[in-house]
Amino acid sequence: MPDTAFLQSLIPSLFSKELARLATSTYGMYGENRRSSLAALYDTLQTEFGMKDDSVFLDLGSGRGVPSLLLALMRPKIISLGMEIDASSFYLSLRQQLHFAKNIVQSREEANPPPLRIAFGKGDCTALDTFEPATHIYTFDVGMPADVMISFVEIANVTRTLTAFCCFRGDLVEEFGLDGTLAARLPMSMHGSNERHTCYLYRMNDKHQDHHHMPVQQGGGRSGLCEGPSVAQLAAFARQGEGEQISVLEGLVETWLAPAAVSRPLRRCRTTITSPSPPPAATQVTKNAERKQRRKTGTTVSGRGTSVGATERGGRATGRRGRAKATP
Ligand SMILES: C[S@@+](CC[C@H](N)C(=O)[O-])C[C@H]1O[C@@H](n2cnc3c(N)ncnc32)[C@H](O)[C@@H]1O
Repeated sequence: MPDTAFLQSLIPSLFSKELARLATSTYGMYGENRRSSLAALYDTLQTEFGMKDDSVFLDLGSGRGVPSLLLALMRPKIISLGMEIDASSFYLSLRQQLHFAKNIVQSREEANPPPLRIAFGKGDCTALDTFEPATHIYTFDVGMPADVMISFVEIANVTRTLTAFCCFRGDLVEEFGLDGTLAARLPMSMHGSNERHTCYLYRMNDKHQDHHHMPVQQGGGRSGLCEGPSVAQLAAFARQGEGEQISVLEGLVETWLAPAAVSRPLRRCRTTITSPSPPPAATQVTKNAERKQRRKTGTTVSGRGTSVGATERGGRATGRRGRAKATP
């Protein structure tokens, strides 16, 4: 019988004040929510939004990884993913994941904790074509510009596996055209400052909830995690054995921490990277434009058809761009 008590014992270290202070991001690291708030969110996702053992949770803008790591420790069967644009925050999440993975392996002499099914990727979530196979999405978008949410909604609307989308704006259906309904609200408070925000939980319309459509992809290896991986690649990495995961994470964290050259970690990752980190604005704009164009013309990267009216969706999002409010 897997022993989850050991995993629970690791949770407090995630919220250590010192570690939380390390988290900064040039892309809007506004802060993190408290353990109790996140736990309440996961309970609600489980009881009201069908989150279960075979679900795939994705944090858009995962910072140093607290929401995904907490979920993995609380409900280890769920695949728990995060994608983060900022290099320092991303590497902090890898370091924490590695620390937990090693602890779990070492504890096997006395306990029998299950492996963590978790993966973090470094990349711009707005450049993804789909969030598949994610079933439940969370984004602490306070501080993110409206443009980012426009892209998140566009991508959510073409994601066929999605049941729930949770964020801190209450106007995603009316103002951004999310193909879902606002189904619940949850008060959450922030770690450290205690600042309060409302988390809005949207239930995606039925056509998105095709959980049999779970694209399987080869796991991103060492470079795959930091080259803007797809969500399917992250899920594949999360399913890999602990040994493989630890060796990949060790390699990445080691290069990041290597004192010889500050830029070395990124240079190593860049061997096959086309866009450096963070991507220059122009490159990103081109990538987003290409993605939008593909949707408009109905061509897809993954070979799937566009079941939702791409032109209509693109037009609506662009039309709403001016009206979107800057704050929730
Ligand atoms: C407020 S923090 C939330 C961190 C984490 N999700 C949490 O709740 O503890 C928002 C994070 O989103 C990241 N971010 C902003 N825009 C992003 C994008 N387009 N793609 C990926 N990450 C992004 C920022 O760098 C920042 O780390």
